[in-house]
Amino acid sequence: MQPTSSVPLDFLGDLRRTHSCGELRASNAGQRALLMGWVHRRRDLGGVIFIHLRDRDGITQCVFEEATSDAHKKAELLRSEFVVAVEGRVITRSKETINSNIPTGEVEIVVDNLYILNESRTPPFPMEDTVDVSEEARLKYRFVDLRRPRMQRNIILRSKMTLAIRNALYDQGFLEIETPFMTRSTPEGARDYLVPARVNPGTFYALPQSPQIFKQLLMVAGYEKYFQIVRCFRDEDLRADRQPEFTQIDLEMSFPQQETVYATIEKLLAGVMSVLGQDLPLPLPRLTYDQAMKMYGTDKPDLRLPPFHIVSDLFEGAGLVAASSPLVAIVIPKTGQLSRKERDELKDAGKEKGLRVFDDAKRLERDFPEAMAKVRERTGAAEEDTLLLAGFGEEPKGARPDETVLKACGQLRLLAGAKYNDRHKLLDPNVFKFLWVVDFPMFEWDEEDNRWMAAHHPFTSVLDEHIDKLTDDPAGCRAKSYDVVLNGVELGSGSIRIHRRDVQSKVFSALGFTDEEARRRFGFLLDALEYGAPPHGGIALGLDRLVMILCGETSIRDVIPFPKTAKGTDLMCDAPSEVPERQLKEIGISIRRPQ
Ligand code: AMO
Repeated sequence: MQPTSSVPLDFLGDLRRTHSCGELRASNAGQRALLMGWVHRRRDLGGVIFIHLRDRDGITQCVFEEATSDAHKKAELLRSEFVVAVEGRVITRSKETINSNIPTGEVEIVVDNLYILNESRTPPFPMEDTVDVSEEARLKYRFVDLRRPRMQRNIILRSKMTLAIRNALYDQGFLEIETPFMTRSTPEGARDYLVPARVNPGTFYALPQSPQIFKQLLMVAGYEKYFQIVRCFRDEDLRADRQPEFTQIDLEMSFPQQETVYATIEKLLAGVMSVLGQDLPLPLPRLTYDQAMKMYGTDKPDLRLPPFHIVSDLFEGAGLVAASSPLVAIVIPKTGQLSRKERDELKDAGKEKGLRVFDDAKRLERDFPEAMAKVRERTGAAEEDTLLLAGFGEEPKGARPDETVLKACGQLRLLAGAKYNDRHKLLDPNVFKFLWVVDFPMFEWDEEDNRWMAAHHPFTSVLDEHIDKLTDDPAGCRAKSYDVVLNGVELGSGSIRIHRRDVQSKVFSALGFTDEEARRRFGFLLDALEYGAPPHGGIALGLDRLVMILCGETSIRDVIPFPKTAKGTDLMCDAPSEVPERQLKEIGISIRRPQ
């Protein structure tokens, strides 16, 4: 970056804005206006200089006409991103110079006073969205990147959506209550970020992975409806939809049915959609976990693509797949005939997931005419659709072997849908398909530790009719838990909690926690359950993910003002960073460096 030449700067003095840069219309013609903002673009046509003045509200064209005026002379010094105030008269533009691309395009300001409030170095990249800029440069110069129209739109929408969420929850009687950031380990299953405690060397606070325990304690304490838009911290592998610190819309209520939680969230989501000017048809569709698995092979189905169908019954004894593997028909609508190469790609992608893929519908029709006629009837697959059959050639493994196959088919369905999306806009980012997935398994088998783990977290209630299965049939236990899903992304998870001490002990023992371990980790919650804990339940939604999808983005980094890179670093502040020895000493820490 080149340093700019020094320019004489003006003081703000008692200058006051009269309008924003997005505000003036033809009806303002003849008025005087004083605008402040950044020089977005400058054009010098010899005698006349034009600038596009930008603030967060929009862009207004300003004209410096008289080549001999002071304002014109100063305007010659302007460069991109200088900060200025302009004062002048609003006029309507002649018909042929109207700019219909911007709301202020019918007017311009004829400037008689220009104040240069600050200069700017040449920005590291242009302010246009159309220019491709590396993620590294964007994050290093985030203060510049955040000025670009797309980021401004995203961050402003985020703010409006956050307000809609607050309003929806206040309207429904929720109280906004804060919970601590410096606490002890919370039960969400990721690694904790630790904060050393200076006054007790060798001890640490943990940053909360969620306010889970505190919100339950608030229910015990009688607050009945709590919410918080709250930062959570998880030290886990990062992806496009995961950040080490992220924001949850966290809520909890006393005496709820599951339906009460669904209705609360549906009102909240309708409020958020109204920010986009869209109606959300309610109630949202609902699938049990088992249905979602059998129809989509995932617990977060993307409803923009049609479900698949299990067709094992139509091919009994045909030997297409292993005897214990489901056989699945996947239809991707309106792809037209795929080429040999495209079909091979799908087949190979299936193979990587352990699937045997039958991609040649014509051949299947020749070999199994009756069964295939029924497949077409069941799936509704037309000639112009891609129809695949898939299953495992080998006997499937896992705690729930059917699911192993269905999950692989679910991934193939998505991959095929995404691949031909370009052609047919099946996965249109402007279509928003929400749904509830309910009645999740209570436990998941952990291959590494060789034990059952809580699928949600250990405070989740089991379905009343499954309470006796807790010890005998953990795989079959279903929980009072639910996820809200949008376009194939898990937006939020929640559950009705255990409010009785005896039931909580049973679940801890099913999870292989000794009494001592449970006491050590969650003793204060267990104590609280003994002091009149009401039935309670709640949910937390990822605000970043919600805003990401509604803004049409594919990474949450694009809706967080100051995010971390995929490696968890902040390129702008250069964090994490080393600290002076003296500071380490104070907190009783010495660093063992890798050899
Ligand atoms: P859970 O762990 O499912 O549930 O988290 C709830 C939602 O938070 C979002 N989320 C994330 N977003 C960005 N980056 C991350 N690293 C990240 N991790 C989670 C997701 C997810 O659905 N205490 C429970 C909720 C409850 O039971 O009430 C909880 O935290 O959108």
